[in-house]
Amino acid sequence: MSNNRKYLIAGNWKMNKTSADAEELIKAILLELGDKNGVSVVVCPPYTSLETGAKVLAESSNVQLGAQNMHAKASGAYTGEISAAMLRQLYVNFVILGHSERREYFSESDEEINEKVLAALESNLKPILCVGEKLEERESGDTLKVVETQLLGGLVNVPEDKADQVVIAYEPVWAIGTGKTATPEMAQEVHAAIRVLLRDRFGKATGDKIRILYGGSMKPENADGLLAKEDIDGGLIGGASLDAKSFVKLVESAAKASA
Ligand code: 13P
Repeated sequence: MSNNRKYLIAGNWKMNKTSADAEELIKAILLELGDKNGVSVVVCPPYTSLETGAKVLAESSNVQLGAQNMHAKASGAYTGEISAAMLRQLYVNFVILGHSERREYFSESDEEINEKVLAALESNLKPILCVGEKLEERESGDTLKVVETQLLGGLVNVPEDKADQVVIAYEPVWAIGTGKTATPEMAQEVHAAIRVLLRDRFGKATGDKIRILYGGSMKPENADGLLAKEDIDGGLIGGASLDAKSFVKLVESAAKASA
């Protein structure tokens, strides 16, 4: 990685862990992490564990809190939904938006995801905008087209002066939870294309500041190769973030890559 972007390792816990489990896991991560810094570390537990997470993390500047989704509207009759302000009140700093599981199982469109990105930025939440192709799209040679549509669709009307608050996560759908990882070269090819699009969209200086994470079966055994690539600025970790030791190993890989 170049351009002094600070590596970011974020754990997406998905629908795992009760709040009692979350307390235990966050404490274990803090213990394992010690006073290591130099890498941004984020945990994204389910909504029901955010308050517990905020309490456990209150005294730690090393680890920040993220949510896995939110609604674009500020308040109102949206049963079952959560607003940006509700997240901010719990000291949440990041929010994952447009994850492929939201796109697939909850039919989220680029337009809807874009509304959420804008609402998050309005509330000073940093969106982690996820993009990535499905297996059949890769096989038909459409990877870059799909990623471009999702990326630019998610960033409509994002003002240039807030763009460096955005984090992009490239997550090839075929690599999520499958044990199949993109090779560092495959991932870098897409990250580099995203970097070009970001520079075109926001100008070179801002495009160079935006962090692009890789996600999809990233684990301690394959992290070093991925994190060594120029445009891979960290990881969005599913399965391996549910274990304190493997999650912290990924933070250590990022620290090593930035040294
Ligand atoms: P896995 O690391 O379990 O493949 O999940 C990746 C992911 O979807 C993170 O958002």
